[in-house]
Amino acid sequence: MNGQSTFTACILILVNLSPQLVEIFLRKYFQAGQTVFDPFSGSGTTLVQANELGIHAVGCDISAFNVLLTRAKTKAYSGAEVKHEIKDILARVQNVPLEQANPNTDSEFLKSWFAPQALSELLAFRDLIPEYEDQEILKVILSRAARSARMTTHFDLDFPKKPQTEPYHCYKPQRTCHPTPTAFQFLKRYSLDTIKRIEQFSMLRTNAGVEVIHGDSRHVNPGPIDGVITSPPYVGLIDYHEQHRYAYELLDIEDRSGQEIGAASKGSSIKAKKEYQELVAEVFTNAMQYMPSGGA
Ligand SMILES: C[S@@+](CC[C@H](N)C(=O)[O-])C[C@H]1O[C@@H](n2cnc3c(N)ncnc32)[C@H](O)[C@@H]1O
Repeated sequence: MNGQSTFTACILILVNLSPQLVEIFLRKYFQAGQTVFDPFSGSGTTLVQANELGIHAVGCDISAFNVLLTRAKTKAYSGAEVKHEIKDILARVQNVPLEQANPNTDSEFLKSWFAPQALSELLAFRDLIPEYEDQEILKVILSRAARSARMTTHFDLDFPKKPQTEPYHCYKPQRTCHPTPTAFQFLKRYSLDTIKRIEQFSMLRTNAGVEVIHGDSRHVNPGPIDGVITSPPYVGLIDYHEQHRYAYELLDIEDRSGQEIGAASKGSSIKAKKEYQELVAEVFTNAMQYMPSGGA
């Protein structure tokens, strides 16, 4: 794909997609101005690294939350305006009367996973988002804060099974910990962190195109592409929608979990593995149609 390579096009499938590894393969097989496609774009590692190298990138993911995250991460922001919006919404939430912590929602999920005060703060932030320009980044801040504010042990943030409503013994450090009653501290932490990340990426961001499609990669049309770099879902290990259920409930985003390939809920039986292989093969067969002839 570049002057030294014998490939005309390629599909690179990686088990674990670290930014460093993606950068190595992008440099080896792509040139600035070409287009890379990631059919399982997740949180957007391929797209971010490609953009920094001036390579156009198209991603696709079935999870609306991951699409939101990647769009927010890769967007070109006007630094001053987005910073102003983030600080403004945060200041307004701090001043919102929390109605004696009586959260206004019908979601049983939200009511069971968050303390009343925490949920009131998250809902106050959410309800202000439509008043701002850069809504996607505010939704990401809200989601990150919600993830940390769930009533769970703090050593089980990835896959907590049930809400932890009582104090619990923590191993590191050895002491009794309490599920968090509030969320504002997380809203503040992730607001400041997001501003920092936007500033850092803006120094590296190029004008190369970034498109993120919310869809099923077996059927998506990414347009003409020069190659694929991706890390497919594992078989029977993770439910990618369920993992971020709090965001789906808070933001009312589209749930397409039924089209997830390799979902944990489908198990890892021989039948599930066979189905997984067929579905992943469909994704690459579809992608190859959009690559230059000789794609392999
Ligand atoms: C291993 S993760 C990708 C991680 C990604 N490389 C990153 O940097 O975050 C696999 C992704 O495949 C997505 N996925 C599963 N089935 C899909 C389908 N039918 N079409 C598109 N994406 C799908 C999941 O939502 C998940 O985000």
